[in-house]
Parts: sequence; structure tokens; C-alpha cells
Amino acid sequence: SAVNLQEVHDFLVEIAYRAGEMITSAKPIQSEAGQKKNSADIVTETDRAVEKMVSEALREKYSDFEFMGEETYKPGDTLSDKPTLVVDPIDGTNNFLHGHPYVCVSLGLAIEKKPTIGVIYNPFTKTLYTGIKNRGSYLTDPWHDHIRLPLRDPEPMKDLSHCLVAVEWGSDRSGNDYDVKNATFKNLCASKETGGAMVHGIRSLGSAELNLCAVASGHLDVYWENGCYAWDVCAGWVILEEAGGRMVGSMKGDWEPMVDQMRYMAVRGGEGREGIIEEFWGCVAGKIE
Ligand code: IPD
Repeated sequence: SAVNLQEVHDFLVEIAYRAGEMITSAKPIQSEAGQKKNSADIVTETDRAVEKMVSEALREKYSDFEFMGEETYKPGDTLSDKPTLVVDPIDGTNNFLHGHPYVCVSLGLAIEKKPTIGVIYNPFTKTLYTGIKNRGSYLTDPWHDHIRLPLRDPEPMKDLSHCLVAVEWGSDRSGNDYDVKNATFKNLCASKETGGAMVHGIRSLGSAELNLCAVASGHLDVYWENGCYAWDVCAGWVILEEAGGRMVGSMKGDWEPMVDQMRYMAVRGGEGREGIIEEFWGCVAGKIE
């Protein structure tokens, strides 16, 4: 394409480090309209400040790119085919508010609605994940300098009972969807005698993008979530796929990527993956609307 992907990638890495400094030096303060749809769906002054910095830097350098950010998104906004920077200024805002260090800035570039570049930086652990479509994904942190993902050779996947699984409750906490989620989590965890899949464990770390990076790294096997937006997954999607992982729908059936309210499952690379996907779908306890 006409876009110099390496150059955009390098620019995004620079912006991510700049955002990281803003995040670690800020005191988390819920902004005036600090609550969005409910008390679990929050925004801080820092989310807003970072998004503003990123959008201004983008406008200056790539004035022909479009921009979609969590804090400036309006219902009905959709991705166009043009190169679009898809930004979550702070993924893991609840963690940020509580000082829990599982927080990142997420910068994804979508071209023709396809995730093409991903840059995800956790400034508290100094962990940088990057990926460019067809060129691999990498980790840079205090112990690794641009090491290719996954971090270990993908072991074959036998069944769910050998898997470490991430899920998120998200901020919707009522109605049918919530019931289906909870029943699904129970099916995953319960013992085989009681009809469960008996996974090794369930993790809920509070950042969609960092969950995707964990699957890409190979230290989570599966991550399942319902109700994310493009900025929660765009960057991690590239990093995951370049590490040999796959995104599929959270339920068996139709799967429409990169819309709002995405319902997906991310699965690491490895022999036997198709069986894991089928087994997981069998644990999903109803239809999530
Ligand atoms: C949230 C986190 C969380 C996920 C939610 C997201 P935010 O993003 O990624 O893990 O469960 O669906 O909205 O609000 O912290 O940017």
C-alpha cells in the first residue's frame, strides 16, 4: 500500500512512550463526567489528556489519516476504508484508578477496516508489544529487546482442561448477556463430574489489549469477551495474528469483526486449536445478543 507501515509503526512507538510518561506521572482522577454508562464504566482526566495528545500528534504527522478514539467516539461512528488510527488512551482504566499495574495505551492502525499495525505499551511494567501485518510481532521490556512472539514454542492443545483462560465481565452487569457470561464461566471452571470443562484457571486482568498480548505471548491459551469496541482490540489483533494466534466469534455462527460490541475469542497458535474452539463454544451457555 501507499502507507509506509514501518514509518507509521516507529511513529506510534514514539507516541506510546510519550503517552506512557503521561500515564505514570498522572494522579488518577475521575473526570467530571467520570462515569459513562454506569459505575463500572469510568473515564479519568488522563484518558482524555492522552487521547488529545495522540490525536494532535497524528494530525500533525499524518493529516490524511482518520482517527477513532474511545473518549471522542460517538455512537454511530464507523470505521472507513481509509487508514485510521484506532486508539484506547488507557485500556484498563479501572486498574489505573486503583493503581493496579495492568494498564496500557493502545494504538492500532486499521487499513480498509483491517488491523494492520499494533502498538501496545504498559508504562508501569515497561512492556511494549508491537506488530505489523505480515512482518511479525515483538516484545520489548526490561528483559527482552525486540524478541519475536510467541515467547515459547506453542505446545499442542489437547483440551480445555489443560488451558489457562481469560475472560472479562466488562461493564454490562445485568440482563441476559450477564447471565450467559456467568453461566459460561461456571461451565469452564466446574469439575468434569459436574459437567464442566475444568480449565486450569480463569484470569480477568482488566485490559482487553493486554489479554490479547498474553495470548500472543503464549502465557494464556484462550481469551473470551463479549461487547468490546474496535479500540479494545485493533492493536492486539495484529500482535496476536502475527504470533500465530487467531480471533474467532465468541459463539458459533456469524462473526463480524471491527464493529462495535464485538464478541470474540482469541486463541493462541498450536496444534489442536480447532478442537479447543469447538469445546469452548460448547461451554457457551446461551446466546449473547
Ligand atoms: C475495558 C477493558 C476491559 C474490558 C472492557 C473494556 P477500558 O477498556 O479492556 O478489560 O472488559 O470491555 O471496555 O474502559 O479500560 O478502556
